[in-house]
Amino acid sequence: MDKVQSRTFAIDKWPVISRFFHWISALLLLITWVLIVLYENTDNKFYIGLHKAFGVSLLFWMFARLINRLFIKAPPEVSMPNWQELLSKLTHFALYAMLIAMPIAGLLMSMYGGRPVDMFGLFEIPIFVTPDRSMARFFNDLHTSIIWPMIIAFTLAHIGAALYHQFIKKDRLINRML
Ligand code: HEM
Ligand code: HEM
Repeated sequence: MDKVQSRTFAIDKWPVISRFFHWISALLLLITWVLIVLYENTDNKFYIGLHKAFGVSLLFWMFARLINRLFIKAPPEVSMPNWQELLSKLTHFALYAMLIAMPIAGLLMSMYGGRPVDMFGLFEIPIFVTPDRSMARFFNDLHTSIIWPMIIAFTLAHIGAALYHQFIKKDRLINRML
């Protein structure tokens, strides 16, 4: 392979640990969402309990992911117009922020509602605030009406960008995360 070819086809992947963090986060988000859909369609308390436990697991996962992100070296940027690079950085930052804010809002909703959170029957997160209905309502609104629509918007933009790279630019950017 000559020099030009290797520059065209070489792919700088994210470190394996970062790829693992990425896909498990996506999976946990999917599971947490499926569980709330199941709960809303069946009204079965079992599902809301699992929604909370998976949501808190995602919070812990994101803390670990954030620490990892601060220590690893990201692969060199793919060349693209400055505005696209800026937009991707903002979207990634927003996704980190939302995936941390969402379970915190959920947790505080439960806490202010006076309900401890059962973690898969293994241990319990006890109530660490003084229950307060108006605070519970506030975090409920934040969880369901503000942060959730933002997660949907940023995730769709993110997946849309990945598909754009894959099928329009054909620069195999997705392989960096596979
Ligand atoms: C990133 C993690 C999470 C995601 C993506 C998520 C997502 C959602 C969504 C989409 C809803 C339904 C909103 C609607 O009614 O349209 C919901 C409701 C709810 N979530 Fe979460 N959630 C997460 C974490 C948590 C956590 C950690 C807790 C509590 C410990 C929690 C507690 C609840 C409760 C109690 C409801 C029902 C609210 C109601 O029926 O009024 N969630 N969540
Ligand atoms: C089909 C689904 C998905 C695909 C194909 C995908 C693809 C990618 C790719 C290729 C990158 C690396 C971008 C680069 O190297 O410049 C990336 C990064 C990232 N993705 Fe995804 N992704 C998907 C789902 C998700 C979901 C569901 C989330 C969270 C809601 C997410 C959050 C992130 C974040 C935060 C980064 C930045 C990584 C960092 O800076 O540490 N992704 N994704």
